[in-house]
Amino acid sequence: MKKIAIFASGTGSNFDALAQAIDDGRLKAEIQLLVCDQKHAKVIEKAEKRGISTFVFTAKEFASKADYESMIVSKLKHANVEWVILAGYMRLLGSTLLEAYPMHIINIHPSLLPAYKGKDAVEQAIEAGERQVGVSIHYVDEGMDTGELIAQEAIQLTGREQLDEVLQMVHHVEHRLYPQTLALLFAD
Ligand code: GRF
Repeated sequence: MKKIAIFASGTGSNFDALAQAIDDGRLKAEIQLLVCDQKHAKVIEKAEKRGISTFVFTAKEFASKADYESMIVSKLKHANVEWVILAGYMRLLGSTLLEAYPMHIINIHPSLLPAYKGKDAVEQAIEAGERQVGVSIHYVDEGMDTGELIAQEAIQLTGREQLDEVLQMVHHVEHRLYPQTLALLFAD
C-alpha cells in the first residue's frame, strides 16, 4: 500500500478518479493528504467529503517558494508520504520538493508531450488544427511538463468537435489512465 499525497489547484476530477480507484481496489494506495494552493478550489470539498486531510496554503503569504515548499515537505514527511501525485496543481515545483522526493513525483498533462506544454494545452492543440489530442503522464522535474514520460494515450478527432466535447474526452481518458498507470508503477 503506497502512501501518496495529491496536489491540486482546481476542480479535482482527477483527485476523485484516483480516490474512487482506491476505494474500488484498482489502485493499492492511501491518500494521506491533499495539498492545495487555492483556498476556494472545489477539490477541497471533494477531499473533505471523503475524510481526507488537507493542507491549503496561499503562496503569497510566504517569503519564497522554498519557504512554502519546506512547509509542504514537513507535512508530507509527517504523514509518511512516499509518492507525490500532481493532478491539476498549477505551480512549478522547486528544488525543495524535487530533492525531497527524487523520481517520486508524477504529473498528468492533457497533451501528447512534448507538444503543447503549459496552460490550456487542449485549446492550444485545437487552435493549431490538430486531429489528435491526448494525455501524458510523466515524472516531474524542474521544467514545465518536461520530465521523463511514463504513459501516453492519443485521442483522434474528426475536426468537428466543440472544445467542451474534446475537454470531456480528455478528462475521460485521464480518469482511466492515471489510476491505471499508477497501479503499474506501484506494483514494481
Ligand atoms: C487535468 O486536465 C490535468 O491533465 C491538468 O489539469 C487538469 C485538472 O483537472 N494537469 P481536474 O481538476 O482534475 O478536473
